[in-house]
Amino acid sequence: MHTSWHGMLIRMTRSISQASWASPQSAPRYLFLLLFLIISPLAALSAEDSILRFVDPLIGSTNGGNVFAGATRPYGLAKAVADVDGQNTGGFSTDGSNVRGFSAVHDSGTGGNPSLGNFPLFPQLCPEDEVNNCAFRIGDRATPYVADSVVASPGYFAVQLESGIKTSMTSSEHAALFRFEFPAAGDGEQHPLVLLDLTDLWQSRQNATVSVDAETARMTGNGTFLPSFGAGSYVMHYCVDFFGGQVFDNGVWVNNRGGTEPKDLYVTRGFNLFFLEAGGWARFAGLANNTLTARVGISFISADQACRSAETEIPSPLDDFDRLVQEAEDAWEQKLSPISINAGVWSGVYRTMISPQNYTGENPKWDSGIPYFDSYYCIWDSFRVQHPLLTIVDPAAQVQMVNSLLDIYEHEGWLPDCHMSLCNGWTQGGSNADVVLVDAYVKNLTGIDYELALKAIIQDAEVEPLEWAFHGRGGVQSWRDLDYIPYLDFDPVGFGTNSRSISRTLEYAYNDYCLATLAQGLGQTDVYDKYVARSANWQNLWKEDQTSAIRGRDTGFTGFPQPKYQNGTWGFQDPIDCSALAGFCSLTSNPSETFEASVWQYQFLVPHSMSTLIEYMGGEEKFIDRLNFFHTSGLADISNEPVFSTVYLYHYVGRPGLSAKRVHTYIPSAFNATNGGLPGNDDSGSMGAFVVFGMLGLFPISGQDVYLISAPFFEAVNITNPVTGKTAQIKTVGFDAGYENVFIQNVTVNGEPWTKSYIGHALFTEGWTMEIVLGSQESSWGTKLEDRPPSWGEGAKILSTML
Ligand SMILES: *[C@@H]1O[C@H](CO)[C@@H](O)[C@H](O)[C@H]1NC(C)=O
Ligand SMILES: *[C@@H]1O[C@H](CO)[C@@H](O)[C@H](O)[C@H]1NC(C)=O
Ligand SMILES: *[C@@H]1O[C@H](CO)[C@@H](O)[C@H](O)[C@H]1NC(C)=O
Ligand SMILES: *[C@@H]1O[C@H](CO)[C@@H](O)[C@H](O)[C@H]1NC(C)=O
Ligand SMILES: *[C@@H]1O[C@H](CO)[C@@H](O)[C@H](O)[C@H]1NC(C)=O
Ligand SMILES: *[C@@H]1O[C@H](CO)[C@@H](O)[C@H](O)[C@H]1NC(C)=O
Ligand SMILES: *[C@@H]1O[C@H](CO)[C@@H](O)[C@H](O)[C@H]1NC(C)=O
Ligand SMILES: *[C@@H]1O[C@H](CO)[C@@H](O)[C@H](O)[C@H]1NC(C)=O
Ligand SMILES: *[C@@H]1O[C@H](CO)[C@@H](O)[C@H](O)[C@H]1NC(C)=O
Repeated sequence: MHTSWHGMLIRMTRSISQASWASPQSAPRYLFLLLFLIISPLAALSAEDSILRFVDPLIGSTNGGNVFAGATRPYGLAKAVADVDGQNTGGFSTDGSNVRGFSAVHDSGTGGNPSLGNFPLFPQLCPEDEVNNCAFRIGDRATPYVADSVVASPGYFAVQLESGIKTSMTSSEHAALFRFEFPAAGDGEQHPLVLLDLTDLWQSRQNATVSVDAETARMTGNGTFLPSFGAGSYVMHYCVDFFGGQVFDNGVWVNNRGGTEPKDLYVTRGFNLFFLEAGGWARFAGLANNTLTARVGISFISADQACRSAETEIPSPLDDFDRLVQEAEDAWEQKLSPISINAGVWSGVYRTMISPQNYTGENPKWDSGIPYFDSYYCIWDSFRVQHPLLTIVDPAAQVQMVNSLLDIYEHEGWLPDCHMSLCNGWTQGGSNADVVLVDAYVKNLTGIDYELALKAIIQDAEVEPLEWAFHGRGGVQSWRDLDYIPYLDFDPVGFGTNSRSISRTLEYAYNDYCLATLAQGLGQTDVYDKYVARSANWQNLWKEDQTSAIRGRDTGFTGFPQPKYQNGTWGFQDPIDCSALAGFCSLTSNPSETFEASVWQYQFLVPHSMSTLIEYMGGEEKFIDRLNFFHTSGLADISNEPVFSTVYLYHYVGRPGLSAKRVHTYIPSAFNATNGGLPGNDDSGSMGAFVVFGMLGLFPISGQDVYLISAPFFEAVNITNPVTGKTAQIKTVGFDAGYENVFIQNVTVNGEPWTKSYIGHALFTEGWTMEIVLGSQESSWGTKLEDRPPSWGEGAKILSTML
């Protein structure tokens, strides 16, 4: 078995320098599937078996995963890939659409509008070698790609167009390197053309410039664009140089015509927002091996800085390609090295380190002299599992990200909920950066000013910004006076989408609980008392007699959150609205009292007070029935982040075995290693992180020092803390590859019995050894009341007595 695996590994091994266009590049996904189907105890990988071979950047490249599939370094600003005209939110997709360009900056896994993809290049041969026979506009030039020519691995991406032009690419931190290999010339002379388009994927460009150097064809300039899910605008600068041939001629193009004069162009959007396609172009002669190399530097500061970064990071473009790929591979290998498993889980971890992006030295608004990260896209998605995973495998980066959030707070006045391209993104629910900060605190990340964090979080809780659409909270006055966010709130203080009163109430309640946690830790008891009381506010929207029917049939469950007017009168939202059974709701499409999920979904999101919730739902058996019904009726939306924790909530009624069963159902039915193997947007690696935690047999409750323990998908896993150097070991006894034995019989930690169904972060920081005995039947492990995960306000209906 091991040898046949090895054969597959070898088959996908490729020499970057002679990118083998016909090589089957999909071996890693076979491996991944094999893991599910025929896994058996394997020897640990030998040193020469790079874990990168298990990373398949194409997982989630179609079917709405929106992952960035191209070449990048961990958290790199430069992200090179082919951009298609189909599902192009992350640039490329294996959806069989056409390639419209090759660009150097992207986001990964996001929803919203297609993100970045600025200043794409496009290579072509002009019929009869006539410039104006070339296709300039996107609609004219977009060309299908040869499906089995796609090669994607960490730090490398290549694809061949049906025009015969092969493009391979790699990247440094702030620059991308593209190699365009043209088909051998037929009859007549040919001067290959490469154009630069003053656009981005979304065609959000407001105005832009290009200057083409007549001698060298260097193209420099900038453009003002709109963030893909946010407010305001940003300016991006570029610097493109060409290598490997002589410059034949060059100039600018507008619409479908190019000319050699002028060499400079400024385009804007007219008063009617007319969008003119335009850019620069250059043709070349005497290409060695028919190959033209283009180096693209990107900066948010200036074109000069873009040129400088490109020249520094890629000084010899004709020789640097393999070195850049190697450096990217080394960087990825190092980032993935904390996890040691008998076989691979790395694609998911890989994707958590594509974004946020390291924009240190690239922030035109301020420079605090500390690392600066951007592309928090969006924290409503990423606070749940992506940041908790980074806290385990790359705590140093997580500290820098937390400090960047505080840096944004200090300079922009508020913690963001979403931030991309140096702009504020739209807030989806609560002020969930609060949870990220407190999660860092409860896991003892050092080098963070937690007093400042407390100040920032208290501001979220107390001060309403004028535009709470993109930071802070809305309805702060009502929250204070009524202890819930009212339906159709009267809120003259600030402006935002006046919807989501139920989901905001639930999220604000948890945000306040996190605030209380931090205050308690910092010894501020009065602050703790105030906010822990407020964390019970979710109870005020619990309508005890609310029922729910599907197509006229009562589901049999009573008591659901409902909207409530300011005067205390109940409103109504059908509990199944905004689920797959009843249509989608977002900020703009069908805005409702819950965001992107139903009342059925949100009712479970009380992570701090589950025991009270269970009581509200009629006790343990009823709770289990309700959770089972949710997961099996079409109401659970596994494609969106709020569902994650519900997979594991059985732990809170002493049935951890049911959680394990549930995880082992969703993986692989909804999460698997195919190109379409993500059920929804990856959201900066959130889906990937959910799978990784599932496979490790742990689930983090972000904001609490709690990991719920479940049955791992691997016989053994080691995770080395890169800061302390200590190694946590998770081992199983009775592991079986068919996953019949997913029920925990008992657990020991460092050889001592561990009866609790959860464990803290010390597992990682202290390098504990956890041994999990698995069996085919549920056991009594984790069932006792005192062994269940913590709940604040055990069973007490705190507020019902006060109302
Ligand atoms: C470019 O567009 C932005 C955003 O619309 C605007 O603020 C800026 O003034 C424009 N710059 C020029 C030079 O037209
Ligand atoms: C963009 O480029 C033009 C032309 O080089 C220059 O005049 C302008 O100042 C640049 N804009 C910014 C914001 O740097
Ligand atoms: C052209 O290709 C040959 C054979 O693959 C190789 O030896 C040579 O280095 C290449 N030249 C350049 C300039 O890339
Ligand atoms: C974990 O580390 C221990 C101690 O170094 C080692 O014996 C074991 O083989 C490792 N397991 C894995 C899965 O790497
Ligand atoms: C981000 O980049 C800065 C500047 O190069 C560096 O100091 C910092 O360590 C980087 N952060 C990470 C997590 O790689
Ligand atoms: C409360 O306000 C709602 C919405 O304005 C209204 O329909 C309802 O009748 C009011 N209830 C009372 C008791 O006044
Ligand atoms: C893989 O996951 C996708 C996305 O959730 C799903 O549509 C597909 O059915 C799954 N495939 C398998 C073989 O389970
Ligand atoms: C753990 O469970 C296994 C299987 O039920 C049993 O053989 C073993 O004695 C148990 N160990 C402890 C420490 O309870
Ligand atoms: C964090 O530090 C405190 C105080 O030293 C300690 O009690 C706690 O266990 C630590 N938590 C973790 C997750 O290491």
